Amino acid sequence: MDISLRLNNIVNLIDKCDSIADIGTDHGYVPIEALKRGVCLKAIASDINKGPVNKAKLNVSLEGLASKIQCRLGSGLKTIKVNEVQGLVIAGMGGNLIRDIIVDSYKVFKSLEFAILQPTQNPEVLREFLFNEGIEILEEKICLDEGIFYEIIKVTPRVRVENKKDLDPIYFEISPYILNSKDPLALEYISNKIEKYNAILEKINDNTEGALKRREEVIKKIQKIKEATTCL
Ligand SMILES: C[S@@+](CC[C@H](N)C(=O)[O-])C[C@H]1O[C@@H](n2cnc3c(N)ncnc32)[C@H](O)[C@@H]1O
Repeated sequence: MDISLRLNNIVNLIDKCDSIADIGTDHGYVPIEALKRGVCLKAIASDINKGPVNKAKLNVSLEGLASKIQCRLGSGLKTIKVNEVQGLVIAGMGGNLIRDIIVDSYKVFKSLEFAILQPTQNPEVLREFLFNEGIEILEEKICLDEGIFYEIIKVTPRVRVENKKDLDPIYFEISPYILNSKDPLALEYISNKIEKYNAILEKINDNTEGALKRREEVIKKIQKIKEATTCL
């Protein structure tokens, strides 16, 4: 079983531990790979939909891991008990949904030693939530997989940090962790963000008050991204 570069980067961030949960597991590749590499001894592969749970069950059986990976059906972290696992992966969902899953089962989330979160859209919503909750970000990684940039955020839910209050919201979008990491992909990642905003600008052709306001917002956003990049 070959996993994608994105999933490989996620599994690389899993700390050696007794057990992990993968929420929204779909194919179950993350827990399967983690077990095969010996990073954890057991895992829970959980999904809200029956199809993915059955797919995960089949893949788990084919890999001979049925005694080590439990596949559970249910929403978010509702399938996991407090202190049942040390590590969590939530990948391939929007930042809003990941935040809502965490909020809905906050006690379970706060009992974890580490969580690896990979929002496919709106990473800024998730970062803002983590910042406001004082949840410590340990590290972030970007990966470029088949032409798409993915942002992976690793946090320690148990630790509460005091964040300074006046952080510019641009840093929820452009992660200081990624910029400070000296990752050679960081500049490409920034250019990619700017390109996306330039593409939005090109589509705003109306002269309505709303369109002009949106245009101004996007121009400001591009300027801020450029400033944020040069400051770091
Ligand atoms: C795009 S797939 C991502 C699969 C895998 N995590 C990955 O990154 O490749 C999203 C999966 O999340 C599941 N899902 C969506 N909302 C969920 C929720 N609230 N709780 C658990 N699973 C959910 C879907 O059924 C689907 O299997």
